[in-house]
Amino acid sequence: MREKFLKHLACPTCHSDLVIKSVAQRREDILETAQLACQGCPAVYPVLNCIPRFVSNDNYASGFGLEWTRHARTQYDSYTGVKLSETRFFEETRWPRNMPGEIILEAGSGSGRFTEQAASTGAVVVSMDYSYAVEANYASNGTRENVLIVQADIYAMPFRSGYFDKVFCFGVLQHTPDVRQAFLALPPMLKPGGELVVDVYKKTFFRTCLATKYYARKLTRNMQPVQLYQLTRRWVDFVWPISLLRPILNWRLLIPDYSVVGLRGNILKEWAYLDIFDMLAPCYDSPQTINTLLKWFQEAEMADVVVDYGYNGIEGRGKRALPVKEKAIATHQEALKLLI
Ligand SMILES: C[S@@+](CC[C@H](N)C(=O)[O-])C[C@H]1O[C@@H](n2cnc3c(N)ncnc32)[C@H](O)[C@@H]1O
Repeated sequence: MREKFLKHLACPTCHSDLVIKSVAQRREDILETAQLACQGCPAVYPVLNCIPRFVSNDNYASGFGLEWTRHARTQYDSYTGVKLSETRFFEETRWPRNMPGEIILEAGSGSGRFTEQAASTGAVVVSMDYSYAVEANYASNGTRENVLIVQADIYAMPFRSGYFDKVFCFGVLQHTPDVRQAFLALPPMLKPGGELVVDVYKKTFFRTCLATKYYARKLTRNMQPVQLYQLTRRWVDFVWPISLLRPILNWRLLIPDYSVVGLRGNILKEWAYLDIFDMLAPCYDSPQTINTLLKWFQEAEMADVVVDYGYNGIEGRGKRALPVKEKAIATHQEALKLLI
């Protein structure tokens, strides 16, 4: 991590400032191996491979660590030649292409395909993930001047509340053990008036109760990630000729068909390896309904809330409500604008 980014971090336990306790290895302004100490409690956190670590690698998301390190570039637009991540990031967030001066939090970055998009806006991007996928993200985005990558838990984030202009969380919530609590951890990270965008898998009878993946997951979610990964690759190799001949069977065979979005050849097969593992490996996979997500936005007292079907199933966006006094000033300013 760049030393200048220390100011963005806080102790996940007591939320006090962190200071550098010791540095074993540094390259110019980048701390490669170091220790960060909390000023308010006895906690000490390591920086390893340039990444501040607030959790260990050994946790329920280790399958994601394997997934995103084996497929570190598979979903990057620069690798596929198709602008899937760029289109999704800007369509889903509806944020401008240029945001210098802003600070964005990405919760659950995986390999960092959206970190790259957020960083392209010129904003400072603080990107966190629970798994060792952060290694893959660091390799792709970590040395950018405006990116800080952190290994941490959405339930105990190492940041001060009210710190970020924008927060996004794509493809993550359904993979946490308590989806409501994971969602509710996000709004407090925003400054008043700051924007949150999340998505979550959609819960329906056909997609959730009848989908092949939910039957297969009963066995696969408890397997060792390395063994499951080998098995899923063999399965894709075996059914690949059938899936090319009979695309209609693909979802039943657990082979997603991304030819519809323009992927071809080996890249199409690589996405199949990645996606089938992504369906079968996660410890948690809890789709939600529109009403549930809407209820959580209301519970968090968010303003301008819109929840609808979209990327990944359901998308929701809203703003952290302004305190009453600021709200009155903003309304007054709006009224003045109308008069001028
Ligand atoms: C399906 S991946 C999505 C990654 C990325 N957002 C994307 O769409 O490409 C889900 C990610 O959520 C992360 N995750 C799961 N539980 C988490 C938690 N408690 N805190 C932070 N990240 C978590 C996983 O490690 C994994 O990288």
